[in-house]
Amino acid sequence: MQLAIITEKHTEREKLAMTNSDEKDIEGTNEKKLNQTWGGRFHEPLDEFISKFAASIQFDKRLYKEDIAGSIAHAEMLAKVEILTTEECGLIVEGLKSIEEDIEKGSFVWSTELEDVHMNIEAALVKKINAVGKKLHTGRSRNDQVATDIKLWLRKAIDQLSDLIEQLQVAVINLAENHAATIMPGFTHLQTAQPVTLGHHLLAWNEMLERDFGRFTDCRSRLNECPLGAAALAGTTFPIDRHLTASKLSFSKPTENSLDSVSDRDFAMEFCAGASILMSHLSRICEELILWNSSQFHFIQLSDRFATGSSIMPQKKNPDVPELIRGKTGRVTGNFITLLMLMKSQPLAYNKDNQEDKEPLFDTVDALGDCLRAMIDLVPDIEVQKDTMYRAAMEGYSTATDLADYLVRKNIPFREAHEIVGRSVAYGLENELELSHMPLSKLQEFSPKIETDVYDILSVEGSVASRAHLGGTAPRSVKAATRRAQDRLRAR
Ligand code: ARG
Repeated sequence: MQLAIITEKHTEREKLAMTNSDEKDIEGTNEKKLNQTWGGRFHEPLDEFISKFAASIQFDKRLYKEDIAGSIAHAEMLAKVEILTTEECGLIVEGLKSIEEDIEKGSFVWSTELEDVHMNIEAALVKKINAVGKKLHTGRSRNDQVATDIKLWLRKAIDQLSDLIEQLQVAVINLAENHAATIMPGFTHLQTAQPVTLGHHLLAWNEMLERDFGRFTDCRSRLNECPLGAAALAGTTFPIDRHLTASKLSFSKPTENSLDSVSDRDFAMEFCAGASILMSHLSRICEELILWNSSQFHFIQLSDRFATGSSIMPQKKNPDVPELIRGKTGRVTGNFITLLMLMKSQPLAYNKDNQEDKEPLFDTVDALGDCLRAMIDLVPDIEVQKDTMYRAAMEGYSTATDLADYLVRKNIPFREAHEIVGRSVAYGLENELELSHMPLSKLQEFSPKIETDVYDILSVEGSVASRAHLGGTAPRSVKAATRRAQDRLRAR
């Protein structure tokens, strides 16, 4: 029964494969034949369904640029050590460049039978320049080739993403600078805790992004070692120059150990870990934007460009963009877990499992790029409702800690001061009265040490201004902190 079902599905897939023009091999025929690359050892062609199942070309063609760059560096190195002649190298390099053009023009035919980007390009090279093309693979393997390709690809992606993080930081810091003195409630447990300035809050976001940037920089520097020369796993019998290929591809040096070189995917995991942390930051920022944008908070308004309406409720304006970013955090973290599970328990050295590294990695880079671009666009457009923020900061006894500190300065031990303020807050709650609205005589019932100067510290302005140390929320400190944040960006 089970077997019948499988066979039926199988046939369906086979039929599909036969009708798909993408299935044509490099010569453009559908003839069943032995694999061009390793056919020598085989008697039967690969099962058609398995051929599709084992192929990675559907997604790894994205590595074509890096694959070609790696092959050019390898060929030039082979010429330098006289494994190839200068003429042979010239033909190979020219051939590879014209393949790159074909791919970019869209005239290149990718073949599933040729399994992956490496074999597709190599077969096309052989077709273009005949036997000389077959010499390119001397002293290397797809194992060191693919490791090199992904590293080159990810290195570029990290550079682009780091640039986006920086752009987002600029947007956040600019907004912080404009709101160095805008007062809002600071929260713990999402309950009004103490007044803070919006600029201070925004600079907290910037610190998260600063660390994210640092994580990507670390990851980039650790991945920047060239695996070429490790060949399949044990190195090669040819007198290759690994330093030369490494420097041609702008790697800081060649990798140390051939077994590790072909099986290491730490850099992908490390990047995805950094990406997951970054996404968790974006999700926190977006959650705040969603809350602040709600009619209950009404602290900000997101521009119409970043919201959608409801098909049924005419009054709705939904913060879709921050919600989507919050949602994408799940898939990025999922990709990280996918890679961790992929690598778990893999024995040395290369295993076919590793082919599964690309999709989660590509998806992470795509999702992160999109989210950062959306945020870069959204942040400068945030419309701050200063009055609502201010009123909210005045409510909820946000300056109660300031009153306790005031009493401590009048020589009352902190625990006792806490108790006194607690009683005055209880009175306020019963009588719907904020501390700053209580008459002096009332406040003095809680402590005779309270004098008229108490009103300076009970105001939200006084409260934030008094926290003027490094890392504090006072407008003066926030202005200084924005300058330091800008300096840090400039010093990168
Ligand atoms: N497509 C393969 C991958 O992505 C390339 C390396 C194949 N190596 C091998 N020994 N089968 O990992």
